[in-house]
Amino acid sequence: MSVNHIPDEQDWFVPNASMAGPFAPNNVESVEQDLEVIGELPSDLNGLYVRNGPSPAHAPHGKYHWFDGDGMLHAVRFEGGKATYRNRFVQTDGLKAEKAAGEPLWPGLKERMPEGVLPDDAMKNVSNTDVKFHNGKLYSMWYRGGAVYTVDPGSLITLGKLEQDPRLVGLQISAHSRVDEATGEFMFFAYGNRHPYMHYGVIGADGALKTFMPVELPGPRLPHDCAITQNYTILHDFPLINTPAALERGRYSLEFHQDWPTRYAVIPRHGTPEQIRWFEFKPRYMLHVANAWEEVNAQGETEIVMLGTPYVNPRGYDGGLDVQKLLYTIGTQGTDYELYQWRMNLTTGMTREGVVDDILNTEFPMINTAFQGRKNRFTYNVLMGRPRTLEQPHFAGLVKYDLQTGAALAYHPGEGYWFSEAPFAPRDGATEEDDGYVVGFVWNGLANRSEVWVTDARDIAKGPVARVILKHRVPHGFHSCWVRGDQLSAAQVA
Ligand SMILES: [Fe+2]
Repeated sequence: MSVNHIPDEQDWFVPNASMAGPFAPNNVESVEQDLEVIGELPSDLNGLYVRNGPSPAHAPHGKYHWFDGDGMLHAVRFEGGKATYRNRFVQTDGLKAEKAAGEPLWPGLKERMPEGVLPDDAMKNVSNTDVKFHNGKLYSMWYRGGAVYTVDPGSLITLGKLEQDPRLVGLQISAHSRVDEATGEFMFFAYGNRHPYMHYGVIGADGALKTFMPVELPGPRLPHDCAITQNYTILHDFPLINTPAALERGRYSLEFHQDWPTRYAVIPRHGTPEQIRWFEFKPRYMLHVANAWEEVNAQGETEIVMLGTPYVNPRGYDGGLDVQKLLYTIGTQGTDYELYQWRMNLTTGMTREGVVDDILNTEFPMINTAFQGRKNRFTYNVLMGRPRTLEQPHFAGLVKYDLQTGAALAYHPGEGYWFSEAPFAPRDGATEEDDGYVVGFVWNGLANRSEVWVTDARDIAKGPVARVILKHRVPHGFHSCWVRGDQLSAAQVA
């Protein structure tokens, strides 16, 4: 059996690199209006850009990992050619308890848990990873799972937890849920270290839990994202797992099984556990999906297509997979990705897979979310820099992929800039997929300040059409979303 693993005693991370420089917390909650703009903010850009990320409210007692910091939402409201910035902590149960105690009460991801305690039982849900808009509220989530916190999109005040149904209470709901704007449904998955290891659910536009089911896995797994089509949800089981013996000792230690397949579960959106179909592919590991959709081929068969940015499978001297190198890249927040496609034929059960682009190194793919689960043409990814400094991962620029022509266009402004996941914001009255802007925070290391860059999605090579200069430093963070002005109005947000 070819099992490789990272020795769990080894500390792979540069101590406190994730607490330094532009990663460092900035815990002042503020509102900034009448901001300086370089260029001109488009008058047809109306909506809210929100990004989640860590900002530890208390200095950790032990080692710190980027995923440990308390969740803080940073939002920029664009309206009438003006921009207003606001930031607030997500008021999690953990943050409240630590504020009361005046110090950290939970160990971080890099700390050893007490003997016999599973990490799931001992970690704080910091709600720092993802943010989505659903049912008039922002949903804030942590990738390791826990309660989903609901947040008012106007004030960023935490409203409560998404626990209206008893089946949601105590569930390890992951980040990376998906919203179908056409139906108003919210598809999510939960995972953990106890049987059945995964659950799947759908919350309707009315806020009620419409579908909920266990998804049985062979053991604890490390899924990161999921995908939806108009009729199906796709869940992930990669051959990357925590070493079971380490898990029992309350530690995380990765191992990759190159003789196990990558498995994707295809579930009818409102199906039953009996309807889950598993499709197998080459072993690899992926964080983020760009999109998925259904296609009918020439034989009249339905294929599910899923596009994402998995880690490149590195080759060793013998031409085979270099598992240690792959684990090192994953375990050290390294960046080596390619754009890749998987196809699942629902009629024949056959699968196909292949590289879409292995020239550019990109991640954090975003699309026009009106096309979520529908065949789309464009994705907007973050261009990853080469690992040369301790400030890793380095989000160096933006890439626009045209999936129809196969072309890719990359933009980076030179040394000293650090991008953030940048969602697509449709222009008011837009009728075509790329008629709008790409909006995201940029750390300007040359001027030591945070900015918000607005780029014309049809001409990203031109660089930003507007740069909003912030007074508040926005620490590097994770996922984001765009909420259209009409969605905010419907949610009665000022
Ligand atoms: Fe993620």
